[in-house]
Amino acid sequence: MELLDKVYQSTQEYIEKMPKEQRKKYGQFFTSKEIAVFMSGLFAIPENKTKLTILDPGTGSGILSAALIERLAENGIQSVHLVCYETDDNITELLQSNLEYIKANGSIDFSYEIRSENYITSQESEYNHYLGADDDPAKYDMVILNPPYKKIAKNAPEALAMPDVCYGAPNLYFLFMQMALFDLKDNAEMVAIIPRSWTSGAYFEHFRQRFLTECRIRHIHLFISRDKVFENESVLQETLIIKVVKSQEVTESITMTTSNSNKDFDNITTFTAPYNTVVSGENYYVYLVTNEDEIEVITQLSKWNDTLPSLGLKMKTGLTVDFRNREVLRNTEEQSAVPLFYSQHIQSGRVIFPIGKENEYIVTDQAGLLQKNKNYLFVKRFTAKEEHRRLQCGVYLSRKFSAYSLISTQNKINFIDGATEISECVVFGLYVIFNSTFYDCYYRILNGSTQVNSTEVNSMPMPPMNIIEAMGKQLISVRDMSENTCDTILRSYL
Ligand SMILES: C[S@@+](CC[C@H](N)C(=O)[O-])C[C@H]1O[C@@H](n2cnc3c(N)ncnc32)[C@H](O)[C@@H]1O
Repeated sequence: MELLDKVYQSTQEYIEKMPKEQRKKYGQFFTSKEIAVFMSGLFAIPENKTKLTILDPGTGSGILSAALIERLAENGIQSVHLVCYETDDNITELLQSNLEYIKANGSIDFSYEIRSENYITSQESEYNHYLGADDDPAKYDMVILNPPYKKIAKNAPEALAMPDVCYGAPNLYFLFMQMALFDLKDNAEMVAIIPRSWTSGAYFEHFRQRFLTECRIRHIHLFISRDKVFENESVLQETLIIKVVKSQEVTESITMTTSNSNKDFDNITTFTAPYNTVVSGENYYVYLVTNEDEIEVITQLSKWNDTLPSLGLKMKTGLTVDFRNREVLRNTEEQSAVPLFYSQHIQSGRVIFPIGKENEYIVTDQAGLLQKNKNYLFVKRFTAKEEHRRLQCGVYLSRKFSAYSLISTQNKINFIDGATEISECVVFGLYVIFNSTFYDCYYRILNGSTQVNSTEVNSMPMPPMNIIEAMGKQLISVRDMSENTCDTILRSYL
């Protein structure tokens, strides 16, 4: 661990002297020593090879490379050539001195190159085969990666260099992932620490599609307690570690591990998940299951082939951004005012109004802020991390607010709407679905954030309409809106 300790120490000194704002500009967050060791431990040591070429894009101070080189040296590799890409001039001096230290003190024949080039744009022509298919760059035996986390504009040079994986404004981290896969030799492995946001959502779909076609996931590590991964850096990131192999061979399973923190890799849980449960569907979602119960949820619900849109339903986001429309909001009812529903109006499965909340009425004739007074299922868009459920919903029945022909919803709630008016039975049936433990669990596996996004909800499997109706009727007859009742009803149809 001597090389790694030295690099870690020098990184700590750098962090102390370099202002965070400065580092943020480059999307720079450093890997901890424990994570670097864990990540390098995930690589299979190639058999019958004593010389390897390694790539570490966005090298920073070189901590990942140092950990990997130590591991390789301990496992019979005699020679390593490392290629680093790093654009931040502030850190390249430190990187160079760390690599020189490894060269002088390591027990391995070690050479390196530091390329102060932009990792993405400098490979634009090779990646897009502008110069013909033969123009393949040198490929690597291993890639170890902690890419910059930074949202960039859709016309930023990096986004324009990789048009095939971009959709809207991309994040540099997945461009690095895709480019790193491009740079890898066939059947070689890459280990990366990245946010988990790419595993679902429309923004990442092009990336997922290409990435998951060109490689196979072998291992995913999740941190169960949040916020601790970069605790020295207090970055609140939902992070995972992934190992992929550049191959299109059928893979039966993926190893899923979890740990409680970024320090304690001794008490990790290990679980094997079927490949097709984790990577599935036409959206190429990655379902981060960590135990048998979660697999059961995915398997059971995936039997249903409908989705909200295929049933003529859709989850939409509330219409009114309250702070941008202050002038039309009212605390009390007045002539031509209509209710504006907030998440606070969703209470124990029902929609309660008025509740004496400020700005709970709206007076406007702007069509974009108003919707018909119809039956809806309201679903909160945001919940707090510590709350028991992600999906929290309330049945909205138009007849209870019959004085109004129009209403409004704040954009912090979502609502499920039908092309035509949906019956009360259907709204109650949707409530059974959205208030069940099964769907809450399904949503959590699909999306690790606390936000409930329409894209994911609209892609969740749904039972056929006659079952939704039947479930609604059952709920109406028992008059109990609890999670338990919803689970019992849903289970009887699974
Ligand atoms: C998240 S940091 C990780 C640093 C190091 N690999 C580690 O694990 O501690 C990402 C690094 O990528 C560098 N970087 C950002 N954009 C880059 C680009 N386009 N090309 C090459 N390096 C880049 C940043 O300066 C930063 O040092």
